[in-house]
Amino acid sequence: KANVMTNSDVGAFVLFGGSGDLAKRKLYPSLYLNFIKGLLPDDCKIFSVSRLSEQTQAFQADIFLQLERYVSPSQFSDEKAKAFVKCIRHVQLDITQVDAWTTLETHLENFRQSPIIYYLSVAPRFFGDIAKGLSSVSLNQNGARLVVEKPFGHDFESARTLNRELRLFFDEQQIFRIDHYLGKESIQNILALRFSNNIFESQWHAGAIESVQITVAETLGVGDRGDYYDNNGASKDMLQNHMMQLLSIVAMEPPFAFSPDAIRDEKVKLLRSLRLITPEVYADHCVRGQYVAGSGERGYLDDIGRDSSDCETYIALKAYIDNRRWAGTPFYLRTGKRLAGSLGEIIINFKPSNPELIRSKSGQCSNNQLVINFQPDQDIFLFINKKDNQSEMFLVDAARLQLSTKSGDLKLPYERLLAHVFEGDQTLFVRDDEIEVAWQWLDQLVVSWSAEGSRPHPYDCFSQGPEQANQLVTNGSGWERIK
Ligand code: BG6
Repeated sequence: KANVMTNSDVGAFVLFGGSGDLAKRKLYPSLYLNFIKGLLPDDCKIFSVSRLSEQTQAFQADIFLQLERYVSPSQFSDEKAKAFVKCIRHVQLDITQVDAWTTLETHLENFRQSPIIYYLSVAPRFFGDIAKGLSSVSLNQNGARLVVEKPFGHDFESARTLNRELRLFFDEQQIFRIDHYLGKESIQNILALRFSNNIFESQWHAGAIESVQITVAETLGVGDRGDYYDNNGASKDMLQNHMMQLLSIVAMEPPFAFSPDAIRDEKVKLLRSLRLITPEVYADHCVRGQYVAGSGERGYLDDIGRDSSDCETYIALKAYIDNRRWAGTPFYLRTGKRLAGSLGEIIINFKPSNPELIRSKSGQCSNNQLVINFQPDQDIFLFINKKDNQSEMFLVDAARLQLSTKSGDLKLPYERLLAHVFEGDQTLFVRDDEIEVAWQWLDQLVVSWSAEGSRPHPYDCFSQGPEQANQLVTNGSGWERIK
């Protein structure tokens, strides 16, 4: 096993699952965006590996069309797209065949002296075999990097087994576990806001913050991913990974350095201090829901073509973090499909300041709020009180300060993450212990709802989710409305 180099001297990029949907919609477009910005090595070769038999030329023509379709018009150029697709070679390979690895070795012979990136956009059951196969022909050497997609396991045990399988052949410093939420601009901004502004960081604790709400709502249903989704539900599809990543970044302690491991150490510590939701407290801390027909849209069971299912398409939680910084502050988390709007939002609700002293027209003046939006738009707002200049009396009203400025095209999550893989920087990737501790916490939650015998509550398509979730929010003015 070799050390990962940290410069961008990558020799080749090998994409397993290179003819798949994710590759076409996200990965080639993101590689292209890095290519036009000069972030890929000039002579970089991209090998698209799949079982399909395709001629490289026809494949390149197909990828050109996909780029036209998925890259924003402002960043698409005919000429550059043509130059980019010329870097792509198609390699037909059945990785279950014994000679697959020597075949791949032949293709990579001229590139193996430099780091090679292997991106596994395939089902997780192939991860271990691919790592082993690459190692069998020493393609895991010379700073090779392995990028893996979610789902990473389906519980703690399976994630641990997967980690062990990968680490037999690759060091942890060579493994890049993707959580595409870590590539979103506003999520990066949380770190910037917290750790470069004393006015926020000095107030970032239970003494000043009343509650935190994190919402990821989608109007989409499960689409054609019924089989996958029904085995996972919102808890494994969104909560264990994306939502817990958001939570750990919002709530972690400042790292001692801005380095991948210092940051990830703090995220792990935070996840370890997340209080377990045991069967005794389950009913007061978690609500699961499943969408049913409404507003002209069919329900979940029709979407997946089954008569019954206990799978949740919505989950809401009241979570507590057992450390000194957050003692007693509730963190409300919710995510779901077929809700009233598509919204990704983190709201920091500060405690009221002296409510009896100064009032607003409607009574008490509002609490300060910091709102970090990451869907559909990337925006940050701070709500503060100022004197109401229309009123004769001394009253205040709330002003909304926009802290974000839009300039040009923001980087897409996969574009940013791929750039970091090329750089060999692991900050935005999930470490082995981080993923395991997140699963341990979720496993307890699953045990708790099973012990309770609870079934998901029905909610109408395009609604706010099940009404029962309202009971979770016991302070402030309830859940922010999803619009
Ligand atoms: C994926 C989930 O990881 O994230 C999907 O599997 C979900 O079910 C998607 O729709 C949401 O991502 P985004 O970036 O659109 O919020």
